[in-house]
Amino acid sequence: MNPRSQRTQELVAEDRAHLWHPFSQASEWESEDALIVERAEGRWLFDTDGNRYLDGISSLWVNVHGHRHPEVDKAIIRQLGLIAHTTLLGLGSPPSIELARRLAGLCPGDLVRVFYSDNGSTSVEVALKMAYQYFQQRGRPGDAARTRFIAFTDAYHGDTVGSVSLGGIDLFHGIYKPLLFDALRAPYPYCYRCPLGKAQGTCSDACLQRLEEILAVHGSETAALVIEPLVQGAAGIITAPPGHFRSVADMCKRHGVLLICDEVATGFGRTGTMFACQQEGVVPDFLCLAKGISAGYLPLAATVTTDEVYDVFRGPYAAHRTFYHGHSYTGNALACAAAIASLDVFLNEKVLEGLPDKVQRLRDRLGERIASHPNVGDLRQCGLMVGIELVADRFTKAGLPLEDRIGRQVILEARKLGVMIRSLGDVVVLMPPLAITGEEIDFLVDVTARSIDAILGRAQ
Ligand SMILES: Cc1ncc(COP(=O)(O)O)c(C=O)c1O
Repeated sequence: MNPRSQRTQELVAEDRAHLWHPFSQASEWESEDALIVERAEGRWLFDTDGNRYLDGISSLWVNVHGHRHPEVDKAIIRQLGLIAHTTLLGLGSPPSIELARRLAGLCPGDLVRVFYSDNGSTSVEVALKMAYQYFQQRGRPGDAARTRFIAFTDAYHGDTVGSVSLGGIDLFHGIYKPLLFDALRAPYPYCYRCPLGKAQGTCSDACLQRLEEILAVHGSETAALVIEPLVQGAAGIITAPPGHFRSVADMCKRHGVLLICDEVATGFGRTGTMFACQQEGVVPDFLCLAKGISAGYLPLAATVTTDEVYDVFRGPYAAHRTFYHGHSYTGNALACAAAIASLDVFLNEKVLEGLPDKVQRLRDRLGERIASHPNVGDLRQCGLMVGIELVADRFTKAGLPLEDRIGRQVILEARKLGVMIRSLGDVVVLMPPLAITGEEIDFLVDVTARSIDAILGRAQ
């Protein structure tokens, strides 16, 4: 590690004086030697003192093809020579049109209508409002009564008030309860710690039965169900058993409830296919995309829906069917140019075709180096998304003391060894860019294993 320069020290002091960091305890942040990232090459980040770190969480789950990919860089610079931004309120722009056409071709089934916003939270917020308004104006008997939403335990859909209402992580969302609308809550299959108290493997899909009960009572008053398909990200990379998602989708269909798939985290290859919903042959009514959509370069989101939904919003102005929602930077031209270039890279570099080997190598290395550690209670993987749940005792599943901040200690240790990762409580998360190489996968897992050993003792 290079020593801290005078410049770094000054930046840290100014950061402490003026910034408020997201999802960070200020007292903890102020007591640490903050790391200031200045530049990147491919999968590697460099701090202001020239130390390099493997980007093991894709800069918070957004980066896809590595940093400074020449084709994405070029596309943004080319677009900058034309215009950086113009509004989509009442005007069109070539990059937003081309990207919408490309997304319509890529998304499953009849998902052909694209509404842009800026981030994952707003992509869900948009779907939520569209689903609600759809039933208010479709005009079939019983439609107007469909005003409620079903979401899952431990769900995370973002930080705007609508998205927080759908969220189920008490630590993040509890304090805002008085501000939120009341979502119906179905259990997500967090099988390691079953929300229904069932033993793993003996539950006969009890969480699906519970959802069926909720739908039986509340289906006719429900507009939509919102789900993170295959894997809940922020809850700690909770992987659902095969077929669970498909069953949820089928139930929604039977009860006339719209299905909103929040693929903000899982979209763009992260689970091994372009979209997670494709793995179980599900075509939702709304597909929420953000994070990887712009390859991790610029804020951009899309809520993709069907023309059947769109048609309900058409009509004479005075009929008040307009969707009154939009943001200043909706459909930003630079971000759309980056997203188009990213889709080209997916094709030209056969990114999806290269994933199975990487996913398997990651699985093998985790199995060899981490799975048997006595403090690893559960090891979950879906594609290139990994959650390593650390516990005090793997037999009783007792958690580690909150105040010890073990997950955090592990990631700080990994940083010293040249890997940037993050933890969600005591779940250590690995989510490398799709462009990670085989050797880098080995390094990522090796450093993670050594960091767990350093903090919790060596595996026997
Ligand atoms: C599944 C899911 N939905 C929504 C969001 C919110 O996205 P953003 O942080 O871009 O608002 C996230 C962020 O992690 C997410 O994982």
